[in-house]
Amino acid sequence: MPRSDCIILFNAAASRHAPFSREKVYPANLVREEVGAVEESLRELGFFPAVLTVDQFSKDLVSELSRLAPKFVFNLCEEINGNCEQEMCVAGLFELMGIPYTGSGPLALGLALNKFRVKQVLRAAGVPAPRGYLCCFGQRLRAHAARRFPVIVKPVHEDASLGINADSVCRDSRQLEDQVAYIHDVYRQDALIEEYLEGREFNVAILGGREAQVLPISEIDFSRMPPGEPRIVSYRAKWDEESVEFQSTVPVCPADVPSRLASRIRSVALRSHRCIGCADYSRVDMRTDSGGNVYVLEVNPNPDISPRAGFARAARAAGLTYTDMIARIIQSAVERATKIPAVAYAIS
Ligand SMILES: Nc1ncnc2c1ncn2[C@@H]1O[C@H](COP(=O)(O)OP(=O)(O)O)[C@@H](O)[C@H]1O
Ligand SMILES: [Mg+2]
Repeated sequence: MPRSDCIILFNAAASRHAPFSREKVYPANLVREEVGAVEESLRELGFFPAVLTVDQFSKDLVSELSRLAPKFVFNLCEEINGNCEQEMCVAGLFELMGIPYTGSGPLALGLALNKFRVKQVLRAAGVPAPRGYLCCFGQRLRAHAARRFPVIVKPVHEDASLGINADSVCRDSRQLEDQVAYIHDVYRQDALIEEYLEGREFNVAILGGREAQVLPISEIDFSRMPPGEPRIVSYRAKWDEESVEFQSTVPVCPADVPSRLASRIRSVALRSHRCIGCADYSRVDMRTDSGGNVYVLEVNPNPDISPRAGFARAARAAGLTYTDMIARIIQSAVERATKIPAVAYAIS
């Protein structure tokens, strides 16, 4: 068996279930699917990957990285020490050790985990993001704060639609107070209250480095959503395949979008990717308001790239095989790394 020349690093991701949450446990099997698919593609590309799981930081991790001295790490870690806010530290470790790695660096990963900060950065750069404000953990909602309805309430630091359910869209102060209390009590973090955008929802995948390519636009088809249910991609819609919500939020890629709107969506996506400092691949989630204006909901610097997920679907729609897509991610990562002075991680 030849010696490993690269590493796929991932975390088991089963630790995110908050007590009393109305959302169920994050499905760890999907992470395995992603790891298996990436491993297969790396082999097809002629690499010999070592697959490492990391749950807790330890000096053994540092020794193992030094010992294997990989050409690159394919970084699929979304958390470490059971804490998704430390996800950026894993990329930071590669930086310190001078190991080339795929995906965004610590700054983009850390920034994207705070949806309010992302909104501030995007808006400062002239990229449209919906109006919103925070109700900080431990504080009460100021009665005068919410004068406009409807709004949507989200945990400021989560992804994968954690904390987002049918009650997230609030149409009066009583509903808003209850939903803010839910986020504070269950997720123990600030609640982001955002103007609710009634229009269409798009996901835009971006591939590559300096010459980043915007892949075909994907749209969520809500037409089968039962009347009265909010047209949002809640946690159940994302993860519970048996649910009505899952079956009524159907991704369509390529989306049927008039050319002017399509070019607006592509340009907003690319500006968001650059503004947050994403590298190699990212996905930008957007919605339109009732007037058809485009707004960025969030920037995902580490979107799910398993074969069944939206990113790979968009790559297929662009004529790329799964392995082509993985090759492009590695190429972009390695090109980026050649511009950074190498630190000798083997020294010790
Ligand atoms: N301002 C908003 N207006 C309308 N729907 C929203 C808004 N923000 C979020 N949503 C809905 O909630 C879903 C999840 O929100 P998002 O900000 O993308 O968080 P996550 O990181 O959990 O995916 C979106 O896909 C969308 O359906
Ligand atoms: Mg999203």
